[in-house]
Amino acid sequence: MALESATCEIKPGDQIALMGPSGSGKSTLLQVLGGLESPTKGTISWPILGEKDFLRPYHISFIFQMPSLVAPLSVVENVELPLLLMNTDTKSARTEAMNALEQLNMHYLAHKLPEELSGGQAQRVAVARALAGKPQLILADEPIGQLDHPTANFMMDTLFASLNETGAAIVVATHDPEIAQRFDMKWHMYRGRLEVEGA
Ligand SMILES: Nc1ncnc2c1ncn2[C@@H]1O[C@H](COP(=O)(O)OP(=O)(O)OP(=O)(O)O)[C@@H](O)[C@H]1O
Ligand SMILES: [Mg+2]
Repeated sequence: MALESATCEIKPGDQIALMGPSGSGKSTLLQVLGGLESPTKGTISWPILGEKDFLRPYHISFIFQMPSLVAPLSVVENVELPLLLMNTDTKSARTEAMNALEQLNMHYLAHKLPEELSGGQAQRVAVARALAGKPQLILADEPIGQLDHPTANFMMDTLFASLNETGAAIVVATHDPEIAQRFDMKWHMYRGRLEVEGA
């Protein structure tokens, strides 16, 4: 079992770094938190966000550890996809997608295909896609894994600025202590067990 024991709560606006060695269960915990996987034992609920079937793309955005852009769609089409799924009209969806790309300095790549991007650029587009729908909770799995430190810090600055604007909560899985120290709240995983600092 990938998760042994995890008791936690995310409140609106919480900013949490999820740390732990490789294989400790960080990605699995994020998937459970986002409703992509169900726990075999125990329960999870989203009292503020509502019904499980409507969590995504409405309230929760994922930034996955693995590349997750849709290959045949351009960069801007990838970013506007969640907006279109939420029935945003096509014109507003395009405008909001371009704004999100601009926040991350990725607008100049809007009409490229994912295969034309570097790994780090693709990650930044995935961040833009997560921000574009203005979710209440962002679950980010090693979002800066492929970025050099200045770019990683720029991306974190952008994320924090967006969070401050929207009041969204975020959980970021990261190996990087320099990134983790930017978060007030830290959760630690070890062999499938979660320890919440200060709990
Ligand atoms: N789909 C799966 N089926 C079975 N076991 C899995 C599955 N996905 C992950 N695991 C196992 O669950 C454990 C936790 O994996 P997880 O991907 O959550 O770790 P992680 O902390 O995110 O690691 P990393 O830092 O390398 O991304 C590992 O032992 C892994 O082998
Ligand atoms: Mg992982």
